[in-house]
Amino acid sequence: MAVIFPRWTNKVPLILLVFVTLGGVGTFFGVDYYFSPKFTDVGYAPKQPIPFSHKLHAGTLKLDCRYCHYSVEKASYAAIPPTQLCMGCHAMVRNNSRKIAVLKAAHEAKKPVKWVRVHMLPDYAFFDHSVHIGAGVGCASCHGRIDKMDIVHQAKALSMRWCLKCHRNPNPHLRPKEQVTNMSWAGSPEQKKFQADLKACLANAKACKNTYIKGFMARRKDIQRRRKAIVAGNTVRRHDFMGWKWPQEDALQLLVNPPEHCSGCHR
Ligand code: HEC
Ligand code: HEC
Ligand code: HEC
Ligand code: HEC
Ligand code: HEC
Repeated sequence: MAVIFPRWTNKVPLILLVFVTLGGVGTFFGVDYYFSPKFTDVGYAPKQPIPFSHKLHAGTLKLDCRYCHYSVEKASYAAIPPTQLCMGCHAMVRNNSRKIAVLKAAHEAKKPVKWVRVHMLPDYAFFDHSVHIGAGVGCASCHGRIDKMDIVHQAKALSMRWCLKCHRNPNPHLRPKEQVTNMSWAGSPEQKKFQADLKACLANAKACKNTYIKGFMARRKDIQRRRKAIVAGNTVRRHDFMGWKWPQEDALQLLVNPPEHCSGCHR
């Protein structure tokens, strides 16, 4: 009989094991280093073509973020406003200011202003604004106090570790949806009350009085129903399963269920 597997192949499993282990350790430390804040762009604040100030427009004038970044609740990205939206005011306000000149020129040429991007994830990481806003995560949790910035800078690392830190424990970051653009929510009495309600509702769903949290609870029931269906071996589309933690996690502690597995963010 021909020798299909020569003798040395007996060692293959061992060799593989050594390589996989070394590779694993290497990846672990490599990832740990690359993901440390040192390696990220916190504080990055490129010079913009127009000295547009969020401190003035979002802070002093109190324009809602969604007035300009209007797609943020519906789409994965947050739209940067077109010149028409600015000109809605600046056709009258400060129209002859030198600081408006670039805006006016772009508007007349029907060309967009060449804003420089501040936040940028690599292509292989998937991020969707609408999902986060829909779950009640505020802009300030990820972008900091934009209403206090004359020039926008990156406030958080946007590293994988940073994403996961919240995904592992999202509840403290949740708020009612109508508060998502409120820049002074953190530390407010309303926030403290909401977090207390949240704890009470999770402990005793029946006594829950906060209608907003009740809405969340209803959704949680749906998650549990789907998990049960999966466990019972019913045919549930693979897509339904992806993104939900496996039942060993106490489902009752979770209002929302952000993905922690690789394919949740790397698709
Ligand atoms: C009057 C319109 C307007 C309002 C209101 C506004 N923004 Fe902006 N925003 C802009 C423009 C224009 C830019 C691009 C120029 C820049 O980066 O400063 C921008 C940029 C940004 C960026 C950086 C985008 C990048 O390149 O990564 C973030 C984050 C942001 N805005 C968040 C907010 C938040 C949060 C609020 C509400 C507190 C808000 N904005 C309110 C017009 C606005
Ligand atoms: C959970 C974190 C998170 C929340 C909440 C969040 N953002 Fe972002 N934002 C990001 C990340 C990450 C990026 C970079 C996205 C990319 O590069 O694909 C970004 C990018 C942006 C940009 C640049 C354009 C874009 O879509 O890439 C703007 C403008 C912006 N955010 C505004 C807002 C506003 C306004 C809110 C609140 C209504 C908000 N963001 C809430 C994480 C967040
Ligand atoms: C709701 C009205 C409104 C909108 C929309 C608006 N602005 Fe303004 N903007 C103002 C007001 C009011 C001032 C302050 C004028 C003053 O200081 O007297 C101002 C000031 C400015 C200044 C400083 C002007 C100077 O001479 O000091 C710049 C630059 C500017 N805006 C750019 C923009 C850009 C770019 C957009 C669109 C992304 C925009 N604005 C959208 C109302 C608006
Ligand atoms: C402050 C908290 C917070 C941060 C920071 C955060 N997330 Fe999330 N993420 C959530 C919550 C809450 C959900 C909603 C889960 C739900 O609805 O059950 C979510 C859901 C998601 C989903 C699943 C929804 C979908 O679109 O498929 C993805 C993917 C995701 N986040 C990616 C990211 C990435 C990438 C980052 C970092 C750049 C990030 N998140 C940072 C809280 C956060
Ligand atoms: C919550 C979202 C999220 C999850 C879950 C996630 N990642 Fe990431 N990952 C990211 C983001 C965002 C980046 C980009 C980080 C940056 O630019 O610094 C990243 C970057 C990476 C990189 C590139 C590192 C480098 O050197 O730039 C690798 C490799 C990676 N992830 C592997 C994984 C693996 C393996 C898993 C599963 C154990 C996983 N990721 C789960 C969000 C996620």
